[in-house]
Parts: sequence; C-alpha cells; structure tokens
Amino acid sequence: MIKNPFSLSHKTIVVTGASSGIGRQCALTLNQMGAFVILIGRSEERLQETASMLSNDNYVVLATDITDYTSTAEKLEKVLETKKQVDGIVHAAGISTTLPLRNITPEKLHPFFETNVYAAIHITKLLTKSKYVNPEGMSIVFIASVMGVVGELGKTTYSLTKGALVAGTKSLALELANKNIRVNCVLPGVVETPMSANAVYSQNEEAYTKIKSYHPLGLGKPEDVANACVYLLSPASRWVTGTNLVVDGGYTAR
Ligand SMILES: NC(=O)c1ccc[n+]([C@@H]2O[C@H](COP(=O)([O-])OP(=O)(O)OC[C@H]3O[C@@H](n4cnc5c(N)ncnc54)[C@H](OP(=O)(O)O)[C@@H]3O)[C@@H](O)[C@H]2O)c1
Repeated sequence: MIKNPFSLSHKTIVVTGASSGIGRQCALTLNQMGAFVILIGRSEERLQETASMLSNDNYVVLATDITDYTSTAEKLEKVLETKKQVDGIVHAAGISTTLPLRNITPEKLHPFFETNVYAAIHITKLLTKSKYVNPEGMSIVFIASVMGVVGELGKTTYSLTKGALVAGTKSLALELANKNIRVNCVLPGVVETPMSANAVYSQNEEAYTKIKSYHPLGLGKPEDVANACVYLLSPASRWVTGTNLVVDGGYTAR
C-alpha cells in the first residue's frame, strides 16, 4: 500500500489561536489529516466551539492566555503528563494593529511582541525539551505574515513582530536541526477571518476593494493556510527547514 506523505496520523500537534480564524481551521484540518490536536486560546467557549466541529475525540481544550508564560507552561505540562510526546506546533495566535509612527510607544509595542513573538518562543522552548520531542522528528510552524517581508502604511508594529518570527525561524532551524526538529514560517496575505474583518481596510468599501485587488487570486481562506501547514507538519516536508512559505494569492509577486 502507498503511504500518504501528507498524513498526520498518530501525531500530536499543539495549535495556538485554535479558537478563531486560521488557527481554528488549522486545528480542524490537522485533525482531519489524523492528528491529535491540543487547542489553545483564551476563550474556553470558542475553543469548545472548535472542538464541536471535530468528528472525533482526538483533541484536548486548553484555555490559557499565552502571554501568561508560567500558567501556560503549567497547563501544557499537565496535558502532556498523559500525551507525553509532541510532533508539531502551529503558532497561529496573533494580534494586529494599524498605527502610524507618531503613535508608537514602547508600551504600545509590547503586547504585540508578547503575543506574536515572545509567546511563540516560550512555547517552542517548553515543547522542544527532550522529554517532549518525538525522536522521529518535530515540526514547528509559525504563522507570520507577508507583512514580515513587505511593508504597508501603518503596519510597522505588526511588521516588526512578523519580521522577528521570519528572522528567528532561520536561527532556530539551525539550532534545533540536530534534535531532528524543523522550523518554518507561513506568510499569508489577507485571509478572511475575524482579524481581517476588524482591520481598517474592511471598514470602507473603497479600501476593501483596493486590498482585494492587490491579491491577483483574490483574498485567502483559512483553508489555504491550513493546507500549507499540513505540508510543513507532515513527512512530505521532511527536508524543509528555515523557510518562509508565502501563501498570499500573489500579493508579493507584484
Ligand atoms: N487574517 C489575516 O489576513 C492574516 C494575514 C496574515 C497573517 N495572519 C496571522 O494569522 C494568525 C491568525 O490570525 P486570524 O486572522 O485567524 O486572527 P483571529 O481570527 O483574530 O484569531 C486570533 C487567535 O489568536 C488567539 N490569541 C490572541 N491573543 C492570545 C493570547 N494572549 N493567548 C491565547 N490566544 C490568543 C485568539 O484566541 P482568543 O481570542 O480565544 O484568545 C484567536 O484564536 C495571526 O498570527 C495573524 O497575525 C492573519
């Protein structure tokens, strides 16, 4: 029988941001592809909603604020007392803002780095301890953004955090390769989710039409990003590490 290289059977994958948008779809798709998923987000109610969309019991709900590093570590370690090994992480939790330079202060930058970057590193540090890593390999995927490699008016704060993920991925990939751990980034263009629905460009029709026109294939769907994650988490990408996988409907091709 031919083995499906994209299968995630028998894998345990931690998904942050599983209560909404891209992270929720990642949880659903990874589970459909065979994975046991650990669903992380702050809202227990919306995590349960994600869980109710699954057609099996291969999941656990873990409500936590990932910027509360100590409490998140304690909760994750508790879950892993039974699960023991981890095969993958998708860090999809993230927050965004549009802020002109004149309004940027260190205090305003801080929460964006805390959620988008520091929490990613904290969870990676915890789950790459030898006792949790499957010796057959682990794959870590950070959901960055095209804003980590190209610019847009008012997106400096968000870009700084996503650029940090893009840059950090390469050094982490080198550092963790000897433990058979791969680290990659996915860089989406605009994807239709609650985050993009709340963005400034969604508040007036002209701006929305403009942002749409920047994407030759139209705006993305959470499935487009989730499918890219399946590839990066599966044996199909066993020789891929330290990369940026741009999934943007052609946004950065211009
Ligand atoms: N949508 C886009 O156009 C787009 C484009 C490029 C990149 N991205 C990136 O893709 C990722 C997902 O975005 P999305 O559009 O799916 O956004 P979303 O619908 O707003 O979802 C964001 C998720 O992050 C979680 N989260 C935020 N802060 C958290 C915290 N402190 N602790 C735990 N969970 C937290 C939220 O959960 P709770 O509310 O339950 O805490 C939610 O599940 C983000 O990193 C975003 O930057 C999005």
